[in-house]
Amino acid sequence: MQNVSRVFKRTLLSVVLSATTLPPVFAANLTRDNGSPVGDNQNSETAGPEGPVLLQDSHLVEKLQRFDRERIPERVVHARGTGAFGDFVPSADLSDLTTAQVFSPGSKTPVFVRFSTVMGYRGSPEQARDPRGFAIKFYTGQGNWDMVGINWPIFFIRDAIKFPDFVHANKPGAVTGVQDPNLAFDFFAHTPEATNMLTHLYSDDGMPDSYRHMDGFGVHAFKFVNAKGEVHYVKFHWVSDQGKKDLRPGEIAASIGSDWNLMTNDLYGAIRKQDFPKWDLYIQVLKPSDLNKFSYDGLDDTKEWLGVPERKIGTMTLNRVPDNYFESTEESAFAPSRLVPGIEPSEDRMLQGRLFAYADTQMYRLGANYNSLPINRPLIDVHSNNQDGRMNASGRTGDVNYEPSGISELSQDPKYKYVQTPLSGTTQQIAIHKKQNFRQAGQYFESLTEQGKGDLVTALSGDLSHVTNEDNKYTMLSYFNKADPDLGARLIRALNADGSKVKTLSAKLSDE
Ligand code: HEM
Repeated sequence: MQNVSRVFKRTLLSVVLSATTLPPVFAANLTRDNGSPVGDNQNSETAGPEGPVLLQDSHLVEKLQRFDRERIPERVVHARGTGAFGDFVPSADLSDLTTAQVFSPGSKTPVFVRFSTVMGYRGSPEQARDPRGFAIKFYTGQGNWDMVGINWPIFFIRDAIKFPDFVHANKPGAVTGVQDPNLAFDFFAHTPEATNMLTHLYSDDGMPDSYRHMDGFGVHAFKFVNAKGEVHYVKFHWVSDQGKKDLRPGEIAASIGSDWNLMTNDLYGAIRKQDFPKWDLYIQVLKPSDLNKFSYDGLDDTKEWLGVPERKIGTMTLNRVPDNYFESTEESAFAPSRLVPGIEPSEDRMLQGRLFAYADTQMYRLGANYNSLPINRPLIDVHSNNQDGRMNASGRTGDVNYEPSGISELSQDPKYKYVQTPLSGTTQQIAIHKKQNFRQAGQYFESLTEQGKGDLVTALSGDLSHVTNEDNKYTMLSYFNKADPDLGARLIRALNADGSKVKTLSAKLSDE
């Protein structure tokens, strides 16, 4: 067969599947990068005992050059993370819903998972009050499927056009390099749809005590497409078999003080002890005609699908710690656009932006050929006509690097075409109609225990007390009061705020 770009399947298999770590080979000679043996790795070559170091010491020069280039840009968000290998085993036949083979009964799919915080730098403490990234790469027989989610079912904003502003306001500040609640709440005071997510963020759920003790969610709706081309909208939920455990506000400082790499050490410690963590995967399923039946927009990622039953469809087990942090965790690239036949994106406006942003940042962060890196390569051969670029080692052969062709055997198959979606209206720049910015935040608050409500108020009032701009502080209070008057009253008390002012502002807000 001509025109086949072969991915290094054998190398990938050894990286992804090998369960053992080889002992270090001490007998081998230290070499330079060209393989030639090193004679002295401790003393540079100098011009006599007092003279300068010689440029001709190419071992020294190469060593320093490679060292100078060790860092790549950290992820623009989710820079602090930790990864582990494992597998996914489906437990239900989903052929009525999707053609995705990852759900074929009897199959076992290798996975790589990366957990992360969002706003901190690469070496920042893992116990931040932050959502936790929960990203899974499934190495399926139909190519790689990435589910790039977090530990809650919702997000702060509902349109990708706001994401860079959201991140700028919440990342360490442009002047001080330090996170500043004044800037964050300046943004949130103008972003009422974030109220639901903020209520989660400041609850105890905002501080899981470890990655093993938290759930994961795909957040957005996706489309399942079956062999007949029928579409169902689905949401994904990973339920921790270890149960959920959180840190309470009074426990956070001691936890950071004891070990700020605690989440990684906990995960790797458990896996090394063969206490393999597991998560069961559940889905919610809706017919397209049912999406509009909510009092809110069914494709708004600031909302959960309340009242839609979940069904279990499989289990993921993490059972291997990577041997090389950089080549696995740092070089891994997850993207919501990395989908397989039978799973397609929904029209959720945030998801649509994400479909572009991840591969784009990864071409910058890792280079155009990041998909050929061992951690990102599919287990199956790749036959695309994408070629060349910096650091390309895909090993493609053959001179037919185009399609259609009468001399290449590569072809397309119409059964993998994207599903057709009915459209209406004109192009537009208009917010969604059923915004309902506050109700689910109130329902979430009401679902908490008395202790949970108290902890939420302690944590939230702690950060709001740093907000010096009174307009922003009162606007935030009005949002929480609109969500739930009891939450509002508790925050007013904790901050010694003017309750009638909060109520007046709150009364002006719409929750439609
Ligand atoms: C339009 C909105 C969003 C944009 C533009 C965006 C963009 C990004 C970018 C550029 C990265 C870095 C990727 C890399 O360097 O490899 C990233 C990482 C990540 N994002 Fe988002 N993001 C958005 C919303 C979300 C949402 C709603 C979720 C959760 C459902 C999410 C979950 C994650 C996770 C888990 C990672 C880390 C993946 C890893 O471990 O490598 N993001 N995001």
